Amino acid sequence: LSRWFRYPAGFSNLALDRALSRVDLPDGALVADPFAGAAVGGTYMTARGFRYIGIEAHPLVAELAELKFARKSTGEEVRALAYQVAVAARKRGTSNEPDLVRSCFWPGTLGVLVALREEIRMRHGSAAAAYLKWALLGTLRDCANVRVGWPYQRPAIRRHPTARRARERFVARALAIADDLDNHSFQSLDGRVVVGDSRTDAAWTSALGAAHADACLTSPPYLNNYDYADATRLEAYFWGIADSWRTLVLNVRSSMIAATTQQTSKRRAELATCKVADDSSFGRNVKSLAASLAAEKAKRKRGKEYDALLLCYLADMQDVFRHLAQRLRPGAPAVLVVGDSAPYGVYLDTPGLLANLATREGFLTESIDHLRDRGLRWRENGSRHQVSLAEKLVVLRAPR
Ligand SMILES: C[S@@+](CC[C@H](N)C(=O)[O-])C[C@H]1O[C@@H](n2cnc3c(N)ncnc32)[C@H](O)[C@@H]1O
Repeated sequence: LSRWFRYPAGFSNLALDRALSRVDLPDGALVADPFAGAAVGGTYMTARGFRYIGIEAHPLVAELAELKFARKSTGEEVRALAYQVAVAARKRGTSNEPDLVRSCFWPGTLGVLVALREEIRMRHGSAAAAYLKWALLGTLRDCANVRVGWPYQRPAIRRHPTARRARERFVARALAIADDLDNHSFQSLDGRVVVGDSRTDAAWTSALGAAHADACLTSPPYLNNYDYADATRLEAYFWGIADSWRTLVLNVRSSMIAATTQQTSKRRAELATCKVADDSSFGRNVKSLAASLAAEKAKRKRGKEYDALLLCYLADMQDVFRHLAQRLRPGAPAVLVVGDSAPYGVYLDTPGLLANLATREGFLTESIDHLRDRGLRWRENGSRHQVSLAEKLVVLRAPR
């Protein structure tokens, strides 16, 4: 189901296989995922007979993830509506579209995309329209005539679109989704995703009610300045859930944990310092890492606030662990797939830091295993750091 829309933050199969092999779960076990993304992990787990409940803060991405389990429509209904929409769509004016959207397409192509969008919107009462929305959002990056590779959309850099005919591309994508809906293995996936902020009790209650999950398997944002809201700006602007950076931050990014320096503020960093940089050995380690990052920042003209980011990230993750500790069955496994990072060359052992943070909320650390090396190409680039990075599997046990 990853082909419905490519959200690049997905779990790798290697990570999922290794994660599941580390925990011995019975068929039908309920797995919670506080960072569901587009439910790549969720669909994988449910295909293996587990039940899945995810929480995702990005409203568009949460909607996509939820749709993968919703079975609102049949393949036949989606096909029929796709043809109807494609035939009815007459090129529209594009002058009201946000600048970013206008600068990503030839005007004729955008006219067709806008027409398809309006036809889908007019049919929002039909369950099949929810799938067509994703067929269309997936078409955008195929038809853009500028660089729109993840995570940055770069309207100033031209490229040849991978698909020139937006209408045909949209129909092809809709037909692929319809085929997936017809597939029997898809129909039995037992999962659900709620939109929410996994730092809050409200999100966990909406996900689990009074139930407890048998395990957690998740991949939290890494501490690497990747901005999930910015990465989906084209889709958010095109669909109208934001029309400026301000509304994107407000409508999309506000309930995400801090993973980019842009999400930090002095006030937030002060609160975070009180929370995580205390007099424990963990707190002292965090303080000393933040001091190294601050020293590197001071050496640069417009240095980034990685020191504040580290503090805010850990404080946010502590909130998530606190809820997770209460929402898991006692002794249940919690597995995190997470990478380390090295802003300004200061090595941040994010997997180790998260394991220590979790123990403050009563978890036990069972193991931290190496999954794969990553980021090695940075070594060749003199302007970046020389530290080799890895993705790791952190296995914890919930408080008993
Ligand atoms: C590494 S991605 C997870 C991808 C997912 N494992 C998959 O397979 O698709 C992290 C996700 O966490 C989401 N996120 C960030 N802060 C969150 C929060 N406070 N609550 C819920 N989700 C959040 C981001 O929007 C992003 O989609």
